[in-house]
Amino acid sequence: MNYIMDQEFKDYFGENLKQVFLYLVDACNLSCVQCLYKLDIGFQASKKEIDFEDAVKLISDFREMGAKKLTLMGGEPTLYKSLLELIKKSKELGYEYVRIDTNGQFDSKLLEKTEFKMLDEVTFSMDGPTAQINDPIRGKGSFEKCVANIKRAKELGYNIDITSCISKEMIKRDENGNLYLDRMIRFAEELGIEKINFHNLFKTGVPRDYFTGNIDISVDDWFEVKEEIEQKIENNEYKIPVRIPSSFTTKEKFLRNPEYYGFCVCKTRSSILVHPNGILRICPLLIGTPYRYCKIL
Ligand SMILES: C[S@@+](CC[C@H](N)C(=O)[O-])C[C@H]1O[C@@H](n2cnc3c(N)ncnc32)[C@H](O)[C@@H]1O
Ligand code: SF4
Repeated sequence: MNYIMDQEFKDYFGENLKQVFLYLVDACNLSCVQCLYKLDIGFQASKKEIDFEDAVKLISDFREMGAKKLTLMGGEPTLYKSLLELIKKSKELGYEYVRIDTNGQFDSKLLEKTEFKMLDEVTFSMDGPTAQINDPIRGKGSFEKCVANIKRAKELGYNIDITSCISKEMIKRDENGNLYLDRMIRFAEELGIEKINFHNLFKTGVPRDYFTGNIDISVDDWFEVKEEIEQKIENNEYKIPVRIPSSFTTKEKFLRNPEYYGFCVCKTRSSILVHPNGILRICPLLIGTPYRYCKIL
C-alpha cells in the first residue's frame, strides 16, 4: 500500500470495493448548462489536475483493495496530459475494465493511439439527437464534433456508449409525435452504439439541484414519458440496451423489485470517487458540495 489508510476507511469497504471514479482534471473545454462540475460555483476545485504519480499510487491501492473497474472522468479527461500513460498503467495494475467519460471534442488522432485503444469502453456525452437540441446545452458545434469522433471510433472498433441528460427538450415531441428521447435512442442505434444511458436532471432538494440549470424536468413530466419508453424497452423495440433513470417509480412497481429501485452505491459500498484535490466521496450527489467521505492528507 502507498497510503496509510485508517481502519474505519478499510472496514467501510471490506471486500466490496469494485469501482473507482477518477476525476483527472477540473478543467473542461465546454461549459454545459447542466454541468455539476462547474468550477465557478463548485467547492471542490482547488487543484487543476491530479498528479500522475498520485493517480497511480491511488489506483494501485484501490486495486489492492479489490477494485477492478476504473472510470476516467473530470472535467474533461481528454485534457489530462498524462492520460495515455495512465490508461496503460491502469491495465498493467490489473484493472479489468477501464472506461472514459468524454464530451467527444478531442482531436480524432487520439483514437489512433495504442494506449487509448486499451480502453474497454468510451462513453460519449450527447444531450440530444440533433444539433438544435444538443448545442444550446453543450455548446455550438459540439454535436457535429462529437458525432464525427463517434463515427471514427466506430470505424476503429471501439466499444462505444452514449450518456444523455433528460432535459426539457428531450421530453418534447417532433412533428411526427415522436419523443426526442425516443429519437435519441434511435440515433444511438443508427450510430452503432453498444448501449445508451440517461441521466436525470430532476430537482430533488439535494445540493446537486444548483447544477442543473433551468433545463430540468419535473417528476410529473417524467412519469408521462417514462411509461412509454419503459413499454418500448419491455417490448424489445430497441436494438440496444437502454438505461433510463429509476429514481422515481410507483409504489406498486417498487415493491415488485425493491432491490432494483432501492439501489444505492452507498449501500453497496462498491465505488469510490477521487477528486484532484484529494477529496474522496462515496455519494455522487455530493459532488460540488463541501461534503466528503474523507480527504487525502
Ligand atoms: C461531469 S461529465 C464529465 C465527463 C465529460 N466531460 C463528459 O461530459 O462526458 C460526466 C457526465 O455527467 C453528466 N452531467 C453533467 N451534469 C449533470 C447533472 N447536473 N446531472 C446529471 N448528469 C450530469 C454529463 O452530461 C456527462 O454525461
Ligand atoms: S463536457 Fe462534461 S465536464 Fe465539461 S461542462 Fe460538459 S458535462 Fe461538464
